[in-house]
Amino acid sequence: MGFIDKKIEDYCIAKSNLPSPDCDRIETYTRANVHGAQMLIGKMEASFMGFLLRSIEAKRVLELGTFTGYSALAMAEHLPEEGEVITVDVNAETVALAKDFWSQSKHGHKIQSKLGSGLDIIPSLQGTFDFVFIDADKKNYIQYLKMTVPMLSSKGMIVLDNTLWSGRVVPDSAEEGHKLIDGNTEFIRQVNDYIAASEDLYGTLLPVRDGMFLVRRK
Ligand SMILES: C[S@@+](CC[C@H](N)C(=O)[O-])C[C@H]1O[C@@H](n2cnc3c(N)ncnc32)[C@H](O)[C@@H]1O
Repeated sequence: MGFIDKKIEDYCIAKSNLPSPDCDRIETYTRANVHGAQMLIGKMEASFMGFLLRSIEAKRVLELGTFTGYSALAMAEHLPEEGEVITVDVNAETVALAKDFWSQSKHGHKIQSKLGSGLDIIPSLQGTFDFVFIDADKKNYIQYLKMTVPMLSSKGMIVLDNTLWSGRVVPDSAEEGHKLIDGNTEFIRQVNDYIAASEDLYGTLLPVRDGMFLVRRK
């Protein structure tokens, strides 16, 4: 679900700096051939993340949820040559596709894939991250957030994707809320509430695409 008029979004995309044709190839292939293609972040969100990465001069990025590698490559394109994106996913099949696409890009060498669940991989990672992109299984969002906040560098930020969950976090009425509530809606609400109530975190929830929650330490 998008939260702004398609015509307006298309205009914003037309006037923005966008991911490279290498990313476009991943997007086109994924939309045509891969189940779950609606999970891709898409051009607008990728452009915005590029702006954030450039603003903080990010060097080290952690991504939870690789899928076919679109967002990892879109982020790698904004890092310096020595920059690094570590990206984690449980799905060996889509990760193999991602690796194939990355190998065709001059930025592919910056991406390191880790196959496994986020909860298992995160504790094995060393050092700090300037940017964490949380876009994997919703039930563990709150854990991913709690585990990665201490890993942030002094300029570091976390972006949690899909935090409006197609608008289901805000039902129109009690009846509709009852109908639409599912496990994932509840998990997303919990993490949104946790950020909103935290004394230590500064958060901004933006209605970009399916909702992006930007978080950093106060
Ligand atoms: C929304 S997609 C990621 C899309 C990707 N960031 C992009 O825009 O190109 C979510 C991914 O999370 C992965 N995933 C699901 N459970 C996971 C877990 N426990 N740990 C890590 N990744 C997981 C799925 O296999 C899927 O590829």
